[in-house]
This record gives sequence, structure tokens and C-alpha cells, in this order.
Amino acid sequence: MPLFEGLGGIGLINEKNTTVVLDIGTAYTKAGFAGEYGPRIITRSEVKCRETGKNVPLLQYKDENELRHHLVDFIHKLYFRCLLVNPKDRRVVVVENLLCPTVVRNTLAKVLFRHYEVLSVLFVPSHLVALMTLGITTGLVLDLGHKEATLMPIYEGVVVFHAWQALPFGGSLIEKSLSELLLDRAVATTEDGTEHRLSSIMQDIPNRYLEDIKVRTCFVSTLERSSCLQNNKYDRSIEPPPPPPSVQYPLEGHHILTVPGTVRELAAEALFERDQDVLTLATMVLNALLKCPIDTRHKLAENMVIIGGTASMKGMKHRILAEVRAAAASEQYRQILPIPSFLLHHPPAKDNYVSWLGGAILGATEAVMLRSYHRDQYLASDVVPDWCNLIFNTCEDRDEKFA
Ligand SMILES: Nc1ncnc2c1ncn2[C@@H]1O[C@H](COP(=O)(O)OP(=O)(O)OP(=O)(O)O)[C@@H](O)[C@H]1O
Ligand SMILES: [Mg+2]
Repeated sequence: MPLFEGLGGIGLINEKNTTVVLDIGTAYTKAGFAGEYGPRIITRSEVKCRETGKNVPLLQYKDENELRHHLVDFIHKLYFRCLLVNPKDRRVVVVENLLCPTVVRNTLAKVLFRHYEVLSVLFVPSHLVALMTLGITTGLVLDLGHKEATLMPIYEGVVVFHAWQALPFGGSLIEKSLSELLLDRAVATTEDGTEHRLSSIMQDIPNRYLEDIKVRTCFVSTLERSSCLQNNKYDRSIEPPPPPPSVQYPLEGHHILTVPGTVRELAAEALFERDQDVLTLATMVLNALLKCPIDTRHKLAENMVIIGGTASMKGMKHRILAEVRAAAASEQYRQILPIPSFLLHHPPAKDNYVSWLGGAILGATEAVMLRSYHRDQYLASDVVPDWCNLIFNTCEDRDEKFA
């Protein structure tokens, strides 16, 4: 039973029936109860390795067996140490990225049904349920997570799957760029007051510091400012804009790291540089629109939603919108994609748990009873139906259902 009963549960749902909502991300997992306004816990997606005893990423595995062990341990931690409820005979809503590997989905179902004996599982696409928080059915949803940026257009509640886009532009890329910049340009003051280059004190910066420095000190500069910086890089005669102030950051208790202003603003530029295929976050949006039916494009462009933890970075959404508008006005797209306006929604939750909130809203409706996959069904067939697999999507199957 939940230790702290949320407002959403009062009188409407009795605690035995409270559905658990899980959003398992590469970096962070959000877990809580359906009908509530936010997750009870946002925890790192890490487990203690059974052999070495060290913390390892949940979704880093050699084979299916290892993944199963990871999931068993992790879900035990979520239910018995974080949510304080018994998983047995309780419903679960799993918010999943449609691009997540099938093996993860199947192993998760196996662990939930066979090991923890949950009553039913409802897998919901994270991009689709993010729209539920806004009460709209059409939107172009861009998820800027830790590992990658994924984009999925949704039109009238239907995911336009063939228009999906994904690029490895997430929080981890910013951390990598930040690490290189810091080792190249930052100085650290030691206890005796002397200054040293950071690279002479440490070979690489531990991830826990990198993420903290990123979140506390870095920001995304405007498109105009970034263009000035780029121009200065290629032509030194052009005066660069004045740098932002540097920030002092205590490192390992006995060093003071000075994070230069240029590093604070350049770290996130990695997301806006064109990769080898000349793809950026902006071209991702425009290419997805090009793949959508022509009469849906205007509506999709006017209903953009940006979610995921990395979108919380200061200036990120503003910059993405400016980049998309600039790319749409460029020679490459102006003729083929004449879209007058791109507009952005602001979901009613912190960016990193918008999808979780969508799952919590869906989990409090009747859909969870009507659409969930039941334990008995799973135990009879031992597979999770996948709508994009023809075995589960044949005409006879549909005819039987609607007979
Ligand atoms: N305020 C912030 N500023 C900058 N970055 C942030 C902020 N808050 C969170 N992040 C970053 O967002 C990322 C986590 O976001 P999120 O929880 O959406 O990822 P995830 O769901 O675990 O990853 P994925 O969706 O790729 O599987 C981390 O890299 C974290 O450092
Ligand atoms: Mg995510």
C-alpha cells in the first residue's frame, strides 16, 4: 500500500487498485502511481552488479539473462524501497520509447509477470502520452533524453511511425563536450592557493561531477550569438561577443574549479553542430514533417512539444525553435516545405517527467482495464503482442477481435 496517499487517490481509486506507472530511461527512471501529479521517485537507472558489487547502468547488458537479473533487482528496489507497495496483483503502466529494443520490452514483461506476478501491464508510447498532459491529440514530440533525441509526429492520436527520427544528441553528448572543453581550458586552484590546469590534476572528470557542472553552470546561447562565435572561429578579425562570467565550482572537496564562461556556453553547442550526414535537431524536425502527409504538416508544426531532461537546460527550447525557423527559411527547405509558423507548447510538468505524467493520466482512466495485457494471457502464450509484428496484426486476428 502506498505510504503517502496522493490527492489523486482520494475516494476515487482504492489503494489495492492503484496502478503503478514506470518510465524507465537510460539515465533516470521515474516511478509513481496513476492519478498523481508527479512521480514519487526519480532515481538513476542503475543496479548493483551481482558479481562485482559496483553500480552499473540498468540497460547495459551482455545478454538477455544479465538484463533479466538487472531488471529483477531494479524493480525490487523500486517497489520495496521507493514505492513501498507489493507488486503482486497490481496493475502496471509502462511508458516506453517506441524505439526501445524488443528484448528490453519482452524481458521486462517476463520479469513483471513471472517474477513479480503483476496483474496486468499496459505498454504506452512515451511520445503519445506526453500529449495527454496538454489535452491535445496532434503534436510533433521531440524527446531530448540522456542518450539520444527521438522525434515522433502524432496526428489525431495516431503515431506517424514511418516519420520517426533519432540522433545521438542528448545529455551525454553535452557531458562529453563539456569534459573535453574543461580539460582543455579550465584551471583548478589547489588547497595551497596555486593554480593548475585541470588536465594536470586529473585525466578525466568523473561523470557525477560532469552532470552536476552541466546542470548548474551551462546554458544554451542564442542563435545570433552562436553565429558570431562561429564566425570568429573561422575569421579572427571578427570581434567575438564578450564571454559570460566564469563560475567557481568546488571539486572533490579540496580543489576549486574555475569554469570559464566560454566553456559554459560552448558545451551545449555540440547539439547544434551538423553531423557527418549534415543532420541537426532542426533538420530532424523538418525531415519528419516532410515524411508526414502534406495536409498534416501545418498542424504538426504549430503543435511542437519538446520533452526530456536535456530540454530543461536554460535557453534550449528557444534555441531549437530559432534553429528550426532558420532552417525552414533556408534554401534547402523553403521551396519543399513552405510552413508559415512553428509554435511550441509548454507541458504542465518538468520536462523530464512529462511522459510519466501522461502515463499517470492514462493509468487513472478505464483504458488501463480495457487495453492492458493480462497475466493469464501472457502465461498462456509467453509473448507480448507487438502491433508492428505481422503475427499479431493479421486480418484474421482483427476479424476475430471485432466479431
Ligand atoms: N536542468 C537541466 N539542465 C540540463 N540538463 C538536465 C537538466 N535536468 C536534467 N538534465 C539532463 O537530462 C538527462 C536526463 O533526462 P531524462 O530523464 O529525460 O533522460 P532518460 O529518460 O533517462 O534518457 P532517454 O530518454 O535517452 O532514455 C540527463 O542527461 C540530465 O543530466
Ligand atoms: Mg526518456
